[in-house]
Amino acid sequence: MNESGVAVRLKELHKTFGGLHALDGLDLAIEPGELVALLGPSGCGKTTALRVLAGLEDADSGQVLVGGADVTARPANQRDMGMVFQAYSLFPHLTALANVEFGLKLRGRRRTAGRAAEMLDLVGLGTLADRLPHQLSGGQQQRVALARALAIRPQVLLLDEPLSALDAKVRVQLRDEIKRIQTEVGTTTLFVTHDQEEALSVADRVGVMRAGKLEQLGTPADVYQKPATAFVADFVGLSNRLPGRLDGDGVIVLGTRLPLVSPPGAGPSEPSVTALVRPEAVEVTPEAEGPGRVLSVSFLGPTSRVTVGLGDQLVVAQVTGGRLAELPVGAPVRVELRPVPVVLS
Ligand SMILES: Nc1ncnc2c1ncn2[C@@H]1O[C@H](COP(=O)(O)OP(=O)(O)O)[C@@H](O)[C@H]1O
Ligand SMILES: [Mg+2]
Repeated sequence: MNESGVAVRLKELHKTFGGLHALDGLDLAIEPGELVALLGPSGCGKTTALRVLAGLEDADSGQVLVGGADVTARPANQRDMGMVFQAYSLFPHLTALANVEFGLKLRGRRRTAGRAAEMLDLVGLGTLADRLPHQLSGGQQQRVALARALAIRPQVLLLDEPLSALDAKVRVQLRDEIKRIQTEVGTTTLFVTHDQEEALSVADRVGVMRAGKLEQLGTPADVYQKPATAFVADFVGLSNRLPGRLDGDGVIVLGTRLPLVSPPGAGPSEPSVTALVRPEAVEVTPEAEGPGRVLSVSFLGPTSRVTVGLGDQLVVAQVTGGRLAELPVGAPVRVELRPVPVVLS
């Protein structure tokens, strides 16, 4: 791969704790100014990857390059990274302003108050500069932490589950705010999260991690619509597991031929397969003679989720609007699939 123009490059990183492979050959390249979200289940190695990039943890093998320079052997304090963790990382006895100034002073910068005030303005806390952390909400505290991380004009911004201690509404507000600020300052960012919605909404590209390595790296739309593996299809969004039959570079499920995201390789393969089909690719139509029976309907506002029994198969459909919200349990329906690409289990 061409290294020039890449802001961050993790190369073949391995890290074991005892017998456990926290990182198992992790490779990742981040473009300048890009926000990459590392998404994966708890324990898949996200924090370890971030800590190795920050220099807080040494990898057993592999390389870390920042701006083309090999920083693998460089200690954390010489890596020029801003960091925000889950929560509670502010100094409790320092005001918001003093917390932001702290990082600047540590680096021997002068005229720190001006820069700190500017950063508090950037995160929307200009008027609360004199508050102590306990006088700020969780979301406001995380804004201060973000201001502190960005004040030093880091080469790379690292965020480790920065929203997970906040309640749902604040989480959504702050996540949109982080995206706005990151775009404005243009700092290359690695955002670690186990929350798929968070990753899909903030990231330029999402890296889905599993057991210490990347399973797929792509735009949010790619990862969702063209999952590279069954793991990605299962972890990012809901999927129906439906029996199908291979047919060339497609698969026939419930009588509809669906294209495959990655066509099966050459050679004999088992024609009976399991396809992962998104609920929004399932159409449900009330029909007196329909073979399906409505088992449940959940009204979710802009969409409804309808679970249909089809023989001994359960099929979940996500339909827009309140159109089907009134369908009674037991109502006969027809189930059809829209021919969107699928992966096999
Ligand atoms: N300092 C450590 N000592 C022992 N095991 C660790 C240590 N840090 C992480 N691990 C283990 O490594 C794996 C990956 O952890 P981590 O990177 O924190 O995952 P994530 O952030 O994705 O939840 C986990 O199984 C975790 O228990
Ligand atoms: Mg973690």
